[in-house]
Amino acid sequence: MSTIRGPRVTIYPDAHAAARDVARRMANALQDNPAVVFGLATGRTPVALYAELARLTTTRHLDWSGATTFNLDEFVGVGPDDPGSYRRFMQEHLFRHTNLEPGRINFLVGTADPDEECRRYERAIAQAGGLDMQILGIGTNGHIGFNEPAPGLESRTHRVKLTIETRRSNADLFGGKLDRVPTEALSMGMATILQARSLILLAHGKSKAQCIAELINGPVTTALPATFLQLHPHVDLILDTAAASALRA
Ligand code: F6R
Repeated sequence: MSTIRGPRVTIYPDAHAAARDVARRMANALQDNPAVVFGLATGRTPVALYAELARLTTTRHLDWSGATTFNLDEFVGVGPDDPGSYRRFMQEHLFRHTNLEPGRINFLVGTADPDEECRRYERAIAQAGGLDMQILGIGTNGHIGFNEPAPGLESRTHRVKLTIETRRSNADLFGGKLDRVPTEALSMGMATILQARSLILLAHGKSKAQCIAELINGPVTTALPATFLQLHPHVDLILDTAAASALRA
């Protein structure tokens, strides 16, 4: 008999310890399978994770040359070399510290034809054999990737209108100017994300606590897209005490 269990929860005293755990899991995955396919996230949360991964790349002599990466999302209208792009963020925080092959770094191109670009990305993920390990953050409104709360969710990679909350939290990338933050993005869909063989969601801070509690205990609802993670058999939530503070004991 098999039992259905929800996401596995690990709680650390602080955000850095949580980030170190996820970095170790990624380093182990890379060493176990040099051809691993990672799904990656941007945002404030994974900054410490990528710094630790860069450190482990040196201390553990990690060889990224056979690995493949796919990032979750990119802003519409923003090219890969734009300082506000997620592509530049990843270059700065992780890629330049590794020997990843440029041809194995996959990114949605914000300046491409959106519909064709989304189809291309789905094909590329399938051709790579799917995602082995998808790293996720969570929005304060419960979004995953840029799958924003809505009456219905798009299952596959698609163009999405960003909420004002999400645009505000990305303003730093655009000189702190909200009016410069694009209004749309391209994002992997919920089904694309849930097809990853394993998922690791990293969250820290009190602002994430309510969504984390609902992710675990709430009904599965498109009003809080992260609750869909309950449907996946291999999800790890790596939290600091503040992000875990609304969980029932
Ligand atoms: C970023 C992404 C988003 C972020 C989320 C949390 O690629 O997909 O879902 O993970 O907005 O952002 P931070 O970490 O800045 O709180």
